[in-house]
Amino acid sequence: MRIRSIAAMAVLLLAARSLAAAEGNHKYVGLKKCAICHKSEAKGSQYGQWISTKHATAYERLASPEAKETAKQAGVSGDPQQAPRCLRCHTTAYGVDSSLLGEGFAASDGVQCEACHGAGGDYVGLSVMKDRARSISQGLIIQMKETCLKCHNSESPNYKGFNFEESYKKITHPMPKK
Ligand code: HEC
Ligand code: HEC
Ligand code: HEC
Ligand code: HEC
Repeated sequence: MRIRSIAAMAVLLLAARSLAAAEGNHKYVGLKKCAICHKSEAKGSQYGQWISTKHATAYERLASPEAKETAKQAGVSGDPQQAPRCLRCHTTAYGVDSSLLGEGFAASDGVQCEACHGAGGDYVGLSVMKDRARSISQGLIIQMKETCLKCHNSESPNYKGFNFEESYKKITHPMPKK
């Protein structure tokens, strides 16, 4: 009996470990790093597309009069830019252990690349990035619906519903066809 439960515990421990590995524990490198390679027109200017969306100003938005009103209605006191309940969706990697936030990472960059594509620490190297399958196995996310729904849901005080197909068209930033 004893031996069996020790074995069971070992199995549980292993399972917990591989879950952590699958979830990542990859480091967040921050917007500027991604922009280095995803800025040029020739490659589709993903950075340029992103900065034209409200995702880029989602943190700034928390300083607006509307945000103060939203906070009041939601029963959140104090500055929305300091409130965990707002930061969770208006920034990237909120609540992640600070050891996983790289030097170039800034919460003020709002809903940045890694909020949707996953923490880049282990896929941003050029040789990895050029290999789609390897990038994905090292944390890159390109299948998106689930990711959007983490923030676009009824826990948003201003929620007006979310149509994935319509919203997707507004924010997508394809690479030019080769
Ligand atoms: C050193 C340059 C470099 C950096 C830094 C970089 N990328 Fe890339 N990325 C590339 C290249 C090259 C490709 C492959 C383009 C191709 O297939 O022609 C790519 C492809 C991608 C793709 C498309 C994958 C696919 O196959 O559909 C995504 C998404 C992406 N990068 C996101 C990011 C994000 C997010 C960051 C920052 C965390 C980042 N990249 C940083 C060079 C880079
Ligand atoms: C569950 C994620 C989530 C949380 C929590 C959240 N927001 Fe948002 N917020 C969003 C999304 C997504 C939008 C875009 C509108 C929507 O919900 O479809 C948004 C939009 C807004 C807007 C723009 C209003 C508009 O009509 O477009 C303001 C202002 C705002 N949020 C403030 C706040 C404040 C203040 C808090 C904290 C009290 C907060 N949000 C908490 C996700 C969230
Ligand atoms: C980390 C949270 C988060 C994730 C993940 C996220 N969003 Fe958002 N999104 C927001 C917030 C917050 C706003 C509102 C910002 C504001 O009004 O200041 C927003 C706004 C938008 C808008 C309005 C943009 C505009 O410029 O009019 C669209 C469209 C949108 N999101 C689509 C998507 C799609 C599609 C996905 C998934 C591919 C996604 N979002 C993932 C938090 C998120
Ligand atoms: C709100 C979520 C969201 C954010 C933020 C975001 N992306 Fe994307 N990205 C997407 C979606 C959705 C796609 C389309 C995926 C698909 O159809 O395969 C995409 C596709 C891409 C592609 C591949 C395009 C192709 O044709 O294969 C690259 C490269 C990319 N993103 C880079 C970036 C970079 C760099 C940033 C930050 C400047 C960024 N993304 C921010 C959602 C996001």
